[in-house]
Amino acid sequence: MSIGSKIRSRVFADRMQAELALAGEIAALVRAKPDAVLGLATGRTPVGVYRELVRMHGEERLDFSQVVTFNLDEFEGLAPDHRLSFRRFMQDHLFEGVNLAPENTHLLSGDVASDEAPAHCAEFEERILAAGGIDLQVLGIGLNGHIGFNEPGSGVDSRTRRVALHPVTRASFEESVGAEAPTHALTMGVATILEARAIRVLALGAKKRAIVRRMLEGDVSSDVPATFLRGHGDVRVLLDAEAGA
Ligand code: F6R
Repeated sequence: MSIGSKIRSRVFADRMQAELALAGEIAALVRAKPDAVLGLATGRTPVGVYRELVRMHGEERLDFSQVVTFNLDEFEGLAPDHRLSFRRFMQDHLFEGVNLAPENTHLLSGDVASDEAPAHCAEFEERILAAGGIDLQVLGIGLNGHIGFNEPGSGVDSRTRRVALHPVTRASFEESVGAEAPTHALTMGVATILEARAIRVLALGAKKRAIVRRMLEGDVSSDVPATFLRGHGDVRVLLDAEAGA
């Protein structure tokens, strides 16, 4: 079903159906292209997708041995093994449950000094290029319309860089983990994300309904960076009934 945008969107009966559909698409890609390059997101939204990929690895021999992954973002100031780092999240929810080679999993590092961030971010972009570019990028969407940590004001030409986190992002972090949010992060840029060959956005729950509608139907503008996805030729949005109502 389309809700009025050139981006194709589909509303599933419930969150599990949306999660299974996205996991199924990732699995089909990995089976067709064993050395696929996946762009991954963290946060509450993709947890069920990763759970299903782990199940498929265990029960259906879905093989990640040649797959390469790049994550969207990481909090500044959190070492890779910090319990709230995105590296830790990925270890817990996906990497330890499948046979990805550790050297094939790429995350920006939260513990580089801020003056070293530009070189670190440039190197991350080079690694994406050296891997042949991202075949399929998984995205969530922030309540303020961010993708990755491209907060409102981020340009369509933005590249991987250090950013200040928006108050809405920090509040949402604090609500979900009950700890003070970092002030800065490193994130792939909007332009970096748009270079992925295919992009899939997963949005679940009633809280996401308004921003999903703006992404699909509002003016394309850096006020809502997710609207820039409308300039990409292969974006699909997967919604549960609450987010798509
Ligand atoms: C996470 C990321 C963010 C989240 C977004 C939604 O790597 O890049 O853009 O996708 O903040 O977060 P949740 O899923 O927790 O609602």
